[in-house]
Amino acid sequence: MQRSLLVCVCAAVVCAARAGRHDAYSSTAVFGVQLRNSSDLELLHNLELKLNLDMWQYGMPRVRDAMVIVPPRVRGEFLSALDEAGVGHYVHVQDVAQALEEYDEDLASWRSSRTPRKIFDDYHRYADIDAYLEEVAAKYPDLVTIVNAGKSFEGRDIKYLKISTTKFEDHSKPIYFMEAMIHAREWVTTPVALYSVHRLVEDLRSEDRDLLEDVDWIILPLVNPDGYEYSHTHDRLWRKTRSTDPTVDTTCIGVDGNRNFDVRHGVGTPTDPCQNTYAGARPFSEPETGYVRDILAEHRGRVQIFMDIHSHGNYVLFAYGDGSLPPDALQIFLVGSAMGAAMDAMKLPEAGFYRVGNSATVLYGSSGSAQDYGQVAGAAASYTLELPGYGHLFEVPPQYQPHINEETWQGIAVTARLSRALYRDRYNAANAQP
Ligand SMILES: *[C@@H]1O[C@H](CO)[C@@H](O)[C@H](O)[C@H]1NC(C)=O
Repeated sequence: MQRSLLVCVCAAVVCAARAGRHDAYSSTAVFGVQLRNSSDLELLHNLELKLNLDMWQYGMPRVRDAMVIVPPRVRGEFLSALDEAGVGHYVHVQDVAQALEEYDEDLASWRSSRTPRKIFDDYHRYADIDAYLEEVAAKYPDLVTIVNAGKSFEGRDIKYLKISTTKFEDHSKPIYFMEAMIHAREWVTTPVALYSVHRLVEDLRSEDRDLLEDVDWIILPLVNPDGYEYSHTHDRLWRKTRSTDPTVDTTCIGVDGNRNFDVRHGVGTPTDPCQNTYAGARPFSEPETGYVRDILAEHRGRVQIFMDIHSHGNYVLFAYGDGSLPPDALQIFLVGSAMGAAMDAMKLPEAGFYRVGNSATVLYGSSGSAQDYGQVAGAAASYTLELPGYGHLFEVPPQYQPHINEETWQGIAVTARLSRALYRDRYNAANAQP
């Protein structure tokens, strides 16, 4: 009797300690919002800014519901604004803290079932990812060069790999520049970049030999290591960098890296540094986005594809965030569509189909994005890739990661080949020796 009581008490203590991890999200719900038309979209956008709400999924009227994270402090105001306008809504996730707990448990049991934990099948910490990049570079010195771009705001080295059979010296070869994890909570993105390294270097298959021989690769798997570490240690849903700027604000931390680039910077973004899409006091206020800019500048004229990898929603998006199109939009669309089709061909039944198009038309208007900057900085085709969420949004169960890696690799391979064919003349002309 006494003994079983003791067990009960212990179990309760363990539960309480574990529940504490995501306490900030207790009583926070995710609401689905049924958008009917552009007025509803605008209403929701205004609420997002006014109440400082975080979007789990942007909606499209009559196509897909918006998903909004609503903390208890603004729940009443949020729901009455929707009710007043007659906009339908429902609870999608009752308690975010509990959903995050379940995700942690899922991850723990996944890990215990997989030894050794492959670097690209799990959400490894910064130090492990860094060690992997160093290890690949040391093991394949003829093929792989590791570059330290510089330090993050908190002082972590941000490294990328250059993969080339000709040490980047053959200027007739186009460059494929892929980067991931500008947004810290999008955990499934870095494994995709690491899996690409694996497939090009450690597990090159005969059918992919052309990808290695004809193209030079730059792979930057972790643009925002400070935010990523913070999403592991403090707040699973952290999106921004971890910078502070006392001249602007002393209470709120971080900038949305994907609004911090120098294309229409700050247009339509909140001026409040506490907001999740705060663009920063000036373009490239964040050292992390500055490194992406520098890589693009260093290789101007040779970058054939710039692929900025995000999650979630199954999108292949291209410039510009204001709805205008680059001159090559049709070719960019063609390559993006081929990518979407290649990934759809392998999709799991529970996944959505990829949607391909201009980011403002297909999704929502934006400014200061990496995608737009990649395009103006000379990439032949610049994309935002939004990986699948399978209805779990940012908390994609880890069981899906191997499939996401494989499917996305097929999409990447298609874009590398097709753009090579489309842009060969352009590159030959640009790189012809006088
Ligand atoms: C959207 O739908 C609501 C409700 O039917 C309507 O009042 C509103 O005028 C519509 N807006 C547009 C732009 O069609």
